Amino acid sequence: MNELVSYRQLGEIAVITINNPPVNALSPGVPEGIAAGIEHATADDHIKGVILIGGGRTFIAGADIKEFGKVIAGEKEEGSLLPLLLLIEDSTKPVVAALHGSAFGGGLEIAMACHYRVADKAAQVGQPEVKLGIIPGAAGTQRLPRLAGVERAVEMCVTGAPVNAADALASGIVDQLIDGDLLAGASAFLREKIASGRAHPKTRERHDKLGDEAANAAIIAAAREKAKKTARGLIAPITAIDAVEAATKLPFDEGCQFERKLFEQCLFSDQAKALIHVFFAERDVAKIPGLSSETKSIEIKQAAIVGAGTMGGGIAMNFANAGVPVLLKESEQGALDRGMAAITKNYANTVRKGRLTEEAMQQRLALIQPTLSYDGFENADIIIEAVFENMALKKEIFAELDQRAKPGALLATNTSSLNLDEIAAITSRTASVIGLHFFSPANVMRLLEIVRGQATSDEAIVTAFALAKLMKKVGVLVGNCHGFVGNRMFFQYMREAYFLVEEGAAVEAVDKALTDFGMAMGLLAVDDMAGIDVGVRVRQENKRNEPPGRRQPLVVDKLYELGRYGQKTGAGWYRYDENRRAIPDPEVAALIERLAGDAGIKRRDISALEIVERCIYALINEGAKILEEGFAWRAGDIDIVYLNGYGFPAWRGGPMWYADTVGVKNVYDRVCALHAEHGAWWEPAPLLKQLAENGGSFAAWDKEKGTQK
Ligand code: 3HC
Ligand code: NAI
Repeated sequence: MNELVSYRQLGEIAVITINNPPVNALSPGVPEGIAAGIEHATADDHIKGVILIGGGRTFIAGADIKEFGKVIAGEKEEGSLLPLLLLIEDSTKPVVAALHGSAFGGGLEIAMACHYRVADKAAQVGQPEVKLGIIPGAAGTQRLPRLAGVERAVEMCVTGAPVNAADALASGIVDQLIDGDLLAGASAFLREKIASGRAHPKTRERHDKLGDEAANAAIIAAAREKAKKTARGLIAPITAIDAVEAATKLPFDEGCQFERKLFEQCLFSDQAKALIHVFFAERDVAKIPGLSSETKSIEIKQAAIVGAGTMGGGIAMNFANAGVPVLLKESEQGALDRGMAAITKNYANTVRKGRLTEEAMQQRLALIQPTLSYDGFENADIIIEAVFENMALKKEIFAELDQRAKPGALLATNTSSLNLDEIAAITSRTASVIGLHFFSPANVMRLLEIVRGQATSDEAIVTAFALAKLMKKVGVLVGNCHGFVGNRMFFQYMREAYFLVEEGAAVEAVDKALTDFGMAMGLLAVDDMAGIDVGVRVRQENKRNEPPGRRQPLVVDKLYELGRYGQKTGAGWYRYDENRRAIPDPEVAALIERLAGDAGIKRRDISALEIVERCIYALINEGAKILEEGFAWRAGDIDIVYLNGYGFPAWRGGPMWYADTVGVKNVYDRVCALHAEHGAWWEPAPLLKQLAENGGSFAAWDKEKGTQK
């Protein structure tokens, strides 16, 4: 038919195969090729039925997301798939979609317009559009409820979560699972349907699963209620519910038009732009310019960890969850027992919630071998140190590891603030030393900052990325600067929250402004959760590297002095009840007022807008410095750090994308104004200035950098 879609005959069956690697997205040429195939089969009297199948590793993963970018930019019109779907459904010859890999988005929509669907046992189907800030745009919200029922359709369109083949069969999305060769199975299925002589079903004409008005009203109302909580701030999930509801109320064609209108509204929204950016940024993050594609990662068959505290335990669980045996070393029996007890409790909680079987828990625990000695470390392919944050101790441990580890083993530190090169220098193998900065809780948080030291080898970096993938995390390569990327920016962000309360904003007003902006938590609530004692110690350490004479926060040090460490002591910026619920504390408000008054700080009303600008622009300004200094490769990498490690809302694309949304010039002007008002902390980043003056953006800067490979 064309380069992307081939056509061949298997006796009386026409086989249309999509060949658009890697995921058979519906790029220009694919819909046209499928349409040509259907027309060809219709015109050929020898053909009695058609199979639509994907070449390579998958059926069709959906519309080509790159093309959306062009549509949004006004460079082309969005081509609707609806005419193709009608052509398929109205074909006089039965069409079977043979699914393997992923039938997602437009891929599932095409499959649902076929008369039948068969699936490989490992296939997945889904309408993941909401993850891109859009809704299904080719009748997915109209055909899916007709096949799977309203409740299932709502769930799939709102969450975007994939459904496995067995579930797809049970809910009526597919008609048969195929064991063994998919094409052979699909052919046998189709021959049977042809031989039956019965009419072939058109999904759009089905009403049997559309339910009744009262039941649907309850389903839709419950879905809206749930989405308000689970999809806070997001437009697409709520819109998807509206579209599925239309399937229950409108005739098919009108439902499709309604869906299409909503789809287009979503596609041109800032949320879709941001989420599409996130989709590609997350995939670009592992593309490291200058790293040879020939570089192979070390195979990780055995791991070892030093330190079974908060982080070491979580990291050990990551290995066990990935099926890798891991030695977990402590310095004394009590700490080892506490570490193993914490891991066991953690798994037991997951079992209790029904998300893990008891058997799987035992298998995972059996992979974690507690120990007080370094015996066996010589077999480890990777060793991660997670002891106290103390340079002398870390050096002592790396000297020991240098003696014990086999040649080529990766030696990693989980330090959050110490100089990686200084740690590496104690060893005779600086090329094998790397930072692996996990986030707490390490078994939950998706972010892994991969810290490259001066001598870290390409092999070590590639292995760290492979490890991130193995642990289902997103690895981001960062440079060895103080706080790396995430925490270096966080220091600036937190500082503004401290200053804002001293200047007149209530503690809860600061947090509310940030959660209203979309952050997962308010900053002061985060401070209470992470521990005010921890934050104060880090800041005291930071102060040593700061230029003298800068304004320092007052209240947080006082809270520390008072032993108000946050959640763990039942009080910090807030008071906590027995359920760890934060309650605003008038004592803190009075303390702030007193300390600010003593220091001569003029208190005033502070708007939510100012709170957001000061906190978020502090992130952006520091992010720009980090980029320019080369400690992060792309602005998109910084976004991925903030989305996965710091609760930044994905629908705002990350701090650097958000700067582009606001306009870099606007951000720069505000930073300059804050600099004039508040002094040195707000020194504008030279890159921010440069982009503002040249009408640039961080996205354009990334593109330019991408071409410098
Ligand atoms: N369009 C364009 N490129 C796509 C794509 C798509 N729909 N899906 C994946 N890709 C690209 C990725 O960018 C990546 O490119 P790269 O190698 O240059 O970085 C490559 O394909 C491989 O993708 P992954 O790294 O994600 O591969 P995995 O094997 O881990 O995952 C997948 C495969 C499960 C298919 C996953 O890529 C995925 O979920 N893709 C998105 C699916 C999706 O959102 N579909 C809906 C699109 S919207 C739509 O269909 C609208 C319709 O209703 C009209
Ligand atoms: P922790 O205090 O909970 O655990 C450290 C453990 O190391 C203790 O159990 C201690 O007994 C053990 N240990 C000390 N010396 C040892 C030795 N010689 N051999 C074996 N074990 C030894 O500390 P946590 O929070 O787990 O931090 C560990 C590292 O991770 C630190 O470098 C920290 O900066 C970093 N980090 C911590 C994060 C957090 O949120 N807690 C987040 C990211 C990094």
